[in-house]
Amino acid sequence: MRLGINIDHIATIREARGGIEPDPAWAVPYCEIAGADGITIHLREDRRHIKERDLALLKKIVSVRLNLEMALNDEIIDIAIDSSPDQITIVPEKRQELTTEGGLDVCANRKRLEEVVKKFKERAIEVALFIDPEADQVRAAAEVAADAIEIHTGAYSNARGTKRIDELEKISEVAELAYDCRLDVHAGHGLNYSNVTDIAKIKRITELNIGHSIISRAVFVGIENAVREMKEIIERAR
Ligand code: PXP
Repeated sequence: MRLGINIDHIATIREARGGIEPDPAWAVPYCEIAGADGITIHLREDRRHIKERDLALLKKIVSVRLNLEMALNDEIIDIAIDSSPDQITIVPEKRQELTTEGGLDVCANRKRLEEVVKKFKERAIEVALFIDPEADQVRAAAEVAADAIEIHTGAYSNARGTKRIDELEKISEVAELAYDCRLDVHAGHGLNYSNVTDIAKIKRITELNIGHSIISRAVFVGIENAVREMKEIIERAR
C-alpha cells in the first residue's frame, strides 16, 4: 500500500505570513527518507496554499510519485498538462470551503470527465476521481475510463460507534466493486494515527493520501518521524 503525503498544509503555514517559509519543498527529502511513496498537493483555483512555483519545483525534486489534486477547471487543466505529474486526482472545489467537503459527482459530469480523462491518459498521466463511497459513482468512474478512484473517507473519520462501522462497511463494499470494475482504489481525507488501521486493512485499497494529521504530528516529532510512524501503522495493518 502506497502512502502519499499531502504537504499543502506546509504551504498553508507559509501563507499565514505571506513569506517564504516553511517551503513545502523542504519536506520532500524527509518524507522520502521516512518511506513516503508519494507527495500530494492541491493547486486550488484561489491558490490559497500551493502555487504554480511549488508545482514546478516539486516536479523537479520529487523522486517518488507526484499526485496533483485539482478541480475540473480549464486553467488548472492546462497547468497540470504542462507540469506532467505522475497522477492527477480530480476533486470538487468550492471557494468557501476549508477543505474538500464532498466527493465529485461523476454521474452528473460524465461527458466532461470522459474528455478530460482522455486528455491526461494520452499523456501518460494517471487519473483518479475523488468520490464518496457510492456504487453509482464507482460505475460512472469506470465508464469515463478513469484509472482509479479515491474514496472520500471524511464521513468515516467523523463518525463514531456503530455509525463508523457502517461507514467502514460502505468503503469496503465500494472498494470491492471498484476492483471488479478494474479501477485502482485509493482513499483519503481525515485519516489519522488512530483511525487509519481499519482502512489500511481493506486489501483492495492500494494508496492512502494523508495530510493534516501527519503535518500536525510533525510539529512535535518532526516530519520524518511523523511519516515513519504512519507508514509503520499502515504496514502493521496489512
Ligand atoms: N485526498 C484528497 C482528495 C484531499 O482533498 C485531501 C485534503 O487535501 C486529502 C486526501 C488529505 O486529507 P487530510 O489532510 O484530511 O489528511
